Amino acid sequence: MSTLGITKLTCEYRSEPLGLGTERPRFSWQLTSGRMHVLQSAYHLQVAGEEGDFAGDHLIWDTGVVDSDQSVLVEYAGAALQSGQRCSWRVKVWDQQGQESEWSDTSYFEMGLLRTSDWSADWITPEPGMIDPQAEEEFLLRKAFHVSKDVRKARIYATSLGFYELELNGERVGDWAFTPGWTSYRHRLQVQAYDVTDLIRSRADNAVGAALANGWYKGNLAWENHRNLYGDQRALLLQLHLEYADGSTEIIGSDPSWKASTGPVRMSEIYHGETYDARLEAGGWSQPGFDDADWTGMVKLDHAKDILVMQENEPVRVIQDLKPVTVLRTPEGDTVLDMGQNMVGCMHMRLNLPAGTAITLKHAEVLDSRGNFYTGNLRKAKQSVTYICKGGGEETYEPHFSFQGFRYVKVEGWPDAEPLNPDRFTGRVMHTDMPQTGRFECSHELLNQLQHNIEWGQRGNFLDIPTDCPQRDERLGWTGDAQVFVRTAAFNFGVAPFFSKWLHDLKADQREDGGVPHVIPQVLDDNACSSAAWGDAAVICPWTIYLCYGDKRILEEQYDSMKAWVDHIRAQGDNEYLWNTGFHFGDWLALDAKEGSYVGATPRDLIATCFYAYSTSLFVKTAEVLGRTEDAAAYRQLYEKVAEAFLIEFVTPGGRLAAHTQTAMILPLMFGLVEGEVQRRMAATLAEYVKEQNHHLTTGFVGTPYLCHVLTENGYHDLAVKLAMQEDYPSWLYSVKQGATTIWEHWDGIKPDGSFWSDDMNSYNHYAFGAIGDWLYRAVAGLDLNEAEGPGYKRIRLRPRTDSALSYAKAALDSMYGTIRSEWSLTDVDGDGDSPLASYEFEIPPNTTAEAELPGASIATTQVNGQPADQASGVLSAKEDDAGTLKLELGSGIYRVTVQQPSPALSGA
Ligand code: BGC
Repeated sequence: MSTLGITKLTCEYRSEPLGLGTERPRFSWQLTSGRMHVLQSAYHLQVAGEEGDFAGDHLIWDTGVVDSDQSVLVEYAGAALQSGQRCSWRVKVWDQQGQESEWSDTSYFEMGLLRTSDWSADWITPEPGMIDPQAEEEFLLRKAFHVSKDVRKARIYATSLGFYELELNGERVGDWAFTPGWTSYRHRLQVQAYDVTDLIRSRADNAVGAALANGWYKGNLAWENHRNLYGDQRALLLQLHLEYADGSTEIIGSDPSWKASTGPVRMSEIYHGETYDARLEAGGWSQPGFDDADWTGMVKLDHAKDILVMQENEPVRVIQDLKPVTVLRTPEGDTVLDMGQNMVGCMHMRLNLPAGTAITLKHAEVLDSRGNFYTGNLRKAKQSVTYICKGGGEETYEPHFSFQGFRYVKVEGWPDAEPLNPDRFTGRVMHTDMPQTGRFECSHELLNQLQHNIEWGQRGNFLDIPTDCPQRDERLGWTGDAQVFVRTAAFNFGVAPFFSKWLHDLKADQREDGGVPHVIPQVLDDNACSSAAWGDAAVICPWTIYLCYGDKRILEEQYDSMKAWVDHIRAQGDNEYLWNTGFHFGDWLALDAKEGSYVGATPRDLIATCFYAYSTSLFVKTAEVLGRTEDAAAYRQLYEKVAEAFLIEFVTPGGRLAAHTQTAMILPLMFGLVEGEVQRRMAATLAEYVKEQNHHLTTGFVGTPYLCHVLTENGYHDLAVKLAMQEDYPSWLYSVKQGATTIWEHWDGIKPDGSFWSDDMNSYNHYAFGAIGDWLYRAVAGLDLNEAEGPGYKRIRLRPRTDSALSYAKAALDSMYGTIRSEWSLTDVDGDGDSPLASYEFEIPPNTTAEAELPGASIATTQVNGQPADQASGVLSAKEDDAGTLKLELGSGIYRVTVQQPSPALSGA
C-alpha cells in the first residue's frame, strides 16, 4: 500500500449525515499510505448533486487544487445550500512529494430544514377537553393519508414538546431514544430528520403515528419534584416531505386533522420509570386501515418555530446489550438480577405469562453490606418499571421514555410456579452514539479496571447532555463536572458534536451579566449560577474541544460567551483582579472538608482567583487563534494583573502559600501562576503533603483532576504513579478494590466497614474523579499533543514515561487524522530486576508529525525499526539534550524503538 489513498470521509464529524443545520458544513478525511512520513501538500474537493455525478455542469462547489495541508474540518464555501438539499462529495490529495491520490469514494451529506419559513405544519396537541394535558399516559397521535404517485424520496422532520417516538405504517421510524433531546428549550429545540423512503408506500394508503410523553420538557426534573419546567402541554410538530418520481413534491404536516388517544404507556417519567399495560395496546394504530373513529381531535398549539434547530449531536440509542451474570436471592428474600456492570439504559424483557400479570423491575446501583437491595441513594427517583401482560404468548417490552442507572434489578410479581430464567432479561445500554476513540491499557490490572470504570462513567453520563449522575432525582448538566472531565472524555470517545451542542445551550442559558448557571440546560433557580470552576466550563470546554479536534468554529461560536464569562468575573467584588466574592462550591467533596460539610478546606477565593486567571489565559489564547489581536492584548494585560494580584494575596515572596491544602498548591502549579523557585518550592511542598498523608490525596472535584499532572510535570512522576496505584482509602483504586464498575461520587461511597456515605448525595456513577483518565493517556502512556504547533493532533507529542511500578503501558487514540499509538514496555533482560531495557512503539498517522522524548536514551544506544536512531526511515531528526533525553522528530508511520541501555529512571529505583 505505498500509494496514497483517502479514507474516513466525514462531514461535520459524521459519516453521511442527514439533516445538517449548518450552512457551512465542514469536510474531513484521512490519508492512507504505506510510506513513512507522508504529508498532504494539496487537496481538491468537489461537491455535486445527489446523483454523485461530478461532471463539470453538475458541480456545486469545486475548490480546484488548493495548496494546503488541511485535511480536517475544511469548510464549505460554495453557493448557499438549500433546505433538504442532498449533495455528494469527493476529494483527492497530493503528498509533499507531489504524488497524487485517486479520487476518494463518493460520500454524501444532506441538509435539514434551515429556515423557519420551511415549516408549514402546525404545532398540535390533543383537544384539552378530551384528553387531559396533565394525564400521565402517553398520547398517541395519528394521521392516515393517501399517496397517489411513485415516491422517489421521503423524509420526516419532527420535534416535540416532551419526548416523541414515531411510527410509519406500523414500523418504528429510526432507533433514536429521548428525541428531540434536551436543549435550552426556550431558545433552542432540536428537529430530527429521518429517511423514510423504505417505509412509505407508493400509490397506496399510509399512516404516520407519534407517541408523546413528558420527558425533560414537562416531567419531573431537578430534585424537588419540580414539573412542567418548560411548559405544561405536550405537542408535536412534524413534516413528511415526499418527492415523487415525476419531480413533484408534497408535504404532509401535523395539523388539527390528526387524531389522538392515550396509549398503553400509563406513566412515564425520567426519574420514576414507566408503567405499561399491554392489554391496552391498540394493534395497528399507526397503520392506514386502523379505525380511529373513537379517537379525539387535535388542536393547534401556539408555540414558537423560530427556536428550531436541526439535531446537532449524535442521537441517543441502544449501543450494546448486557446479559445478567447471576440471579441472587437476597437475605430479605428479594429476587435480584445482577448485571455485573453499573449501566445506564433499561431492561428488555421477554415474557410468556397470563394476561394481567404485572412484573415490576426496580433498579439499584449497589447492594448493602448485608447483600440487600439498596435504593436509598436514589432519593426521590423511583426507577420502577412495570409491565402488565396481555397474555396469549410471548411478549417483549422495554421502556420507551425513561432510563435507569443500575447494576441490580429486583424482579417483583414473578409467579411462584414459574422459575425465573435470567435469559429472559437483557440490559440495554443507552447513551449518545459517540464513537469510541481511545484505549488505555497497562500491566496493572486494577488500573485497567479504573480505565474501564472511567469509560463506563462516561457511557452512563453522556446521555444527550453531560450529566452528573444517571440514577437519582438529579441527572443534570452540572457545568463543574463537565469541565473537569472534558479532556478525559475527548480521549475515550469522539465528543466534539456532543460538547458543541451543549455549549450552544450554555450560551443560550448564560445570563445577561455573563453569569453561567450551575447546570446546563438551566432548570434551577435564577441565582444558581457562577461558581468558580463550574461557570468556567464556558471557557474550558470550548478550548478543550478546539485542542482535541482542531475545531476553530466552536471558539468562534462561543467567543462572546467566553468573553462575557471573563468580564462577569471581573465585575465581581471591589477588586477587579481578585475573585473574592459570590457563591462557590469550592473544592467540592474534598476530604479536608469540615465534619458535615461538602466543601473542602482550600479557601474559596484562592480557588476562584486561580480559575479567574486560568479562564482569562484561555480566552487570550482563543483571541490569538481567531486573530482578534486587540482582545488578545487587552486580556493578556488583564491576565497579568490577575496573576500578580494572586501572588500578592496568596503567596509570600519566598514561595509559601497562604493556604495549606493539596488543592491550594495544585491549582497555581497547574495554571502556571508560579514559576522558578516559587514553583519548585510549591511542588516540593505538595509532594511533602502527599507523602505525609502516606501517599494519599485529600482533594475534591477541583484539585483531583490535576493532582497527578502537577506532580509529573514538576519532577515527581514516581509519586504520581504511587498515588494512582494506591489501594487504601482514599484513592482511585479503593473503589476498584471494593468492586466498583464505574466511578463513585465520593471517595468513600462505600466505607471500609461496608457502610454507605449518607443517602442524600451518594452516586456510584459520577464521572468527575474519573478525570485522572487524561493523566493515564498523557503522562503514563505519553500520548499528547503540541498545543502551540498543532492542535487536533496535527502535531503530536509523545512523552512516554517508563516507571518501574509497571512493565508496560499503551494508549491509542483515533484522532481526526487517524490512529495514534504510544506504547512502552520494560524488559528485564538479565533477570536481576533492576535494570530493565525500555522499548517503545509509536504510530503516527499521515499528515501529522510527532516529537518523541525518550529519557535516558541516546542516539548511540537507540534503534528505530532495526536501524540506528538517526538513520531510520521516517525519523526526521534525532537529538540529545543536556538532560539525557533523546528527542526524535517523526513523520507518519509505525516505529519500534529499542534502547540498549537501562533507563536511568529505573536503574536507581
Ligand atoms: C452534583 C454534582 C455537582 C454538585 C455541585 C451535586 O448534587 O451531583 O456533581 O457538581 O452538586 O454542588
